[in-house]
Amino acid sequence: MKKARILLIGINGRLGWELQRTCATLGEIVTADFPELNLAHPKKLGALLKNIQPDMIINAAAYTNMDQAETEIKLARKVNALSPGVLAQYAARHNIGLIHYSTDYVFDGQKGSSYLETDIPNPINTYGTTMLEGEQTVHDTCCAYFIFRTSWVYSLRQGGFVNKVMKWAREQKILRVVDDQISNPTWARMLAEATAQVIAQGDHNLIHFMKEHAGLYHLAGSGEVTRYEWARRILALDPKMREHVMEELKPAKTIDFPTAAVRPRNTTLNMQRFEETFNITLPHWDASLQLAMSECSKV
Ligand SMILES: NC(=O)c1ccc[n+]([C@@H]2O[C@H](COP(=O)([O-])OP(=O)(O)OC[C@H]3O[C@@H](n4cnc5c(N)ncnc54)[C@H](OP(=O)(O)O)[C@@H]3O)[C@@H](O)[C@H]2O)c1
Repeated sequence: MKKARILLIGINGRLGWELQRTCATLGEIVTADFPELNLAHPKKLGALLKNIQPDMIINAAAYTNMDQAETEIKLARKVNALSPGVLAQYAARHNIGLIHYSTDYVFDGQKGSSYLETDIPNPINTYGTTMLEGEQTVHDTCCAYFIFRTSWVYSLRQGGFVNKVMKWAREQKILRVVDDQISNPTWARMLAEATAQVIAQGDHNLIHFMKEHAGLYHLAGSGEVTRYEWARRILALDPKMREHVMEELKPAKTIDFPTAAVRPRNTTLNMQRFEETFNITLPHWDASLQLAMSECSKV
């Protein structure tokens, strides 16, 4: 049987790096990233897609620098909305599947309980607005698609909150972390593995499977936590905690750290639709964090 050609976009990001590994058994992974693939130039994508002729597209790339997006609105829109639209058009025209990721930041965080896919989004910053536009264009254009809305994605390999907290603890005696932002920390590895498992479920006829289950799904680590509590667990699990100079972790408020992009407060996601459709549940965020940290203790 011919192996599917899966075009994976964004391989140098937290999620894309993991996807390249977890999806390796599912087909021939064709990767594309800067400079040959630049989502800032949606009009140039067509030629690249024609050249690659994928059987499926996974788009893990996005303009994720939330604060910078406030001044680079046009660029954020091209990467997060217009280019996903081109990918969706290609997928629709060639009858192939598209997996696209989105964010809890499409919500304003005011609901007071976990968000369902049926809740009306109301983004409060440019990143969230452009990501929502991306979702809508994929939904309107393509019929074999999954949009996985995720939250607080981390990887110990690069950047992100977990690495920042461990770095701050080595530099600052008093560490202040907000306790009024709540969501579901998601280890990029688990998100990638869940994605691969979903694709594997459609092995017999992927395009039919994707059309049958097409839609938007919330997919993030189980359980919810404040950034402050999350930081506390990161510090407790840091395998090299003897390097900490930090003496105290103090709770703070979002208002104490003015940023260009406003952060929503409680963007906890309800994962029931994903769990019931695919019979997959991501582990509790704390269990994933322990696994991620145990890996970093070996290096
Ligand atoms: N990180 C989070 O907390 C979080 C939360 C909710 C949802 N998500 C969503 O989850 C998905 C994966 O996020 P992530 O955390 O893996 O993001 P990430 O680590 O920031 O990676 C994003 C990737 O997109 C690439 N990219 C940016 N602009 C591009 C362009 N113009 N052309 C081609 N590639 C470009 C980046 O390349 P460079 O590295 O070279 O810039 C990077 O490889 C995204 O859809 C994101 O919006 C993330």
